[in-house]
Amino acid sequence: MTQALQLIAVSRDFGSGALRVRALENVNLTVRAGEFVAVMGPSGSGKSTLLDIAGGIERPSQGDVLIDGVSLGSLDSNALAMVRRRSVGFVFQKYNLIPILTVLENVAVPMELDGWPRGRALEAARQALDELGLQGVADFYPENLSGGQQQRVAIARATAGSPRLILADEPTGALDTITGEAIVRLIRDRVDAGAAAIVATHDHRLAAWADRVFTLEDGRLYATEQAQR
Ligand SMILES: Nc1ncnc2c1ncn2[C@@H]1O[C@H](COP(=O)(O)OP(=O)(O)OP(=O)(O)O)[C@@H](O)[C@H]1O
Ligand SMILES: [Mg+2]
Repeated sequence: MTQALQLIAVSRDFGSGALRVRALENVNLTVRAGEFVAVMGPSGSGKSTLLDIAGGIERPSQGDVLIDGVSLGSLDSNALAMVRRRSVGFVFQKYNLIPILTVLENVAVPMELDGWPRGRALEAARQALDELGLQGVADFYPENLSGGQQQRVAIARATAGSPRLILADEPTGALDTITGEAIVRLIRDRVDAGAAAIVATHDHRLAAWADRVFTLEDGRLYATEQAQR
């Protein structure tokens, strides 16, 4: 069976010369459908860089990324954007909601870009908002929501339409414990229904929901003891 995601000998440098920072160093990681992986590690260890590269938002300096067996290194930017829209649900560390669209429209955007009829995209968006207890704010604009609500909208957007690969960067950062747990349960449900997920987190309670836990230290990825579930 094809792996949902493979990182093969991925390194990533920022800057050059004396200012060069190596954000990732020879990272190898395979995530199968039905598998939930957590990546922990201190600030600056490379978690966001790893997720951005896994989702095709950034390109590696060395190595390759395969999504559903397709090598991203071989794709031009249009083809890459298509794979991203079709296969990847991304929760950004800073939400990245579109200010001029309502909450409902924000959640529907990736599906509409993927060619879904508008009515079907809005229906799936409404369902994703319901699951996260956000039905009351569907017609609000992002600026009228609290940070925690915006984060939940970002999670609804990433999981609506059942993408095969969910990448979430600190998805519970602005949430209280109970809401944070609900978010992780939702990701866990999507994984149990066949998605693959990587979640970057500082939170050990969140990581306990994962099948495998890794730690990044200065851009190097280490397997951590098996999570107990
Ligand atoms: N666009 C960029 N330009 C230059 N350096 C960068 C860039 N993005 C990341 N870095 C550097 O790469 C390293 C890894 O950063 P990254 O954001 O991936 O860490 P992180 O683990 O997500 O941190 P945090 O927990 O604070 O979100 C850091 O040294 C950071 O300064
Ligand atoms: Mg980060």
